[in-house]
Amino acid sequence: MHLVILSGTVFGTADLVADEAQALCEAAGLRVSRLRLLNLDALLALQPEALLVCTSTTGMGELPEPLVPLFHEMRDRFPLLTAMPFGVIALGDAAYGDTFCQAGEEFRELLLELQAREVEPLLRLDASETVTPETDAEPWVGRFIAALKA
Ligand SMILES: Cc1cc2nc3c(=O)[nH]c(=O)nc-3n(C[C@H](O)[C@H](O)[C@H](O)COP(=O)(O)O)c2cc1C
Repeated sequence: MHLVILSGTVFGTADLVADEAQALCEAAGLRVSRLRLLNLDALLALQPEALLVCTSTTGMGELPEPLVPLFHEMRDRFPLLTAMPFGVIALGDAAYGDTFCQAGEEFRELLLELQAREVEPLLRLDASETVTPETDAEPWVGRFIAALKA
């Protein structure tokens, strides 16, 4: 199972969560790639068999800048990812109210439109509640791994 992890961050927290998830997935025997060059051709060239998206939300519910071009490319070119297992870890801050974790939710919606298959419900990590999102994500990542291996 080849898992590709995409992360989008402003201040680095989502990357830390992605690093931790990568370590756990590799320890569980999955082959993991991180997409550094965030564009669709680079993603498809990796021939992913599963996707994990870790993204914070910025602005008024917007995607972090590094993920914006890939998101638009996926929406415009619409590469079907039929039945590809995926999960989304969304970082945000509940103080932002209606836009809490919106970027993660939008990426999830897009992946569902592309016919990918969500294997673990979206995880919301609230910066107003925790300063250790990478360890808080561990149980979720454990369930995600179990679902990929099932
Ligand atoms: C300028 C700014 C705007 C933000 N906007 C939102 C938002 O609309 N919704 C949300 O849930 N969190 C919002 N956040 C909170 C961040 O998503 C949260 O702090 C997250 O942990 C940052 O992760 P990062 O370091 O990976 O960027 C915002 C933070 C900043 C600084």
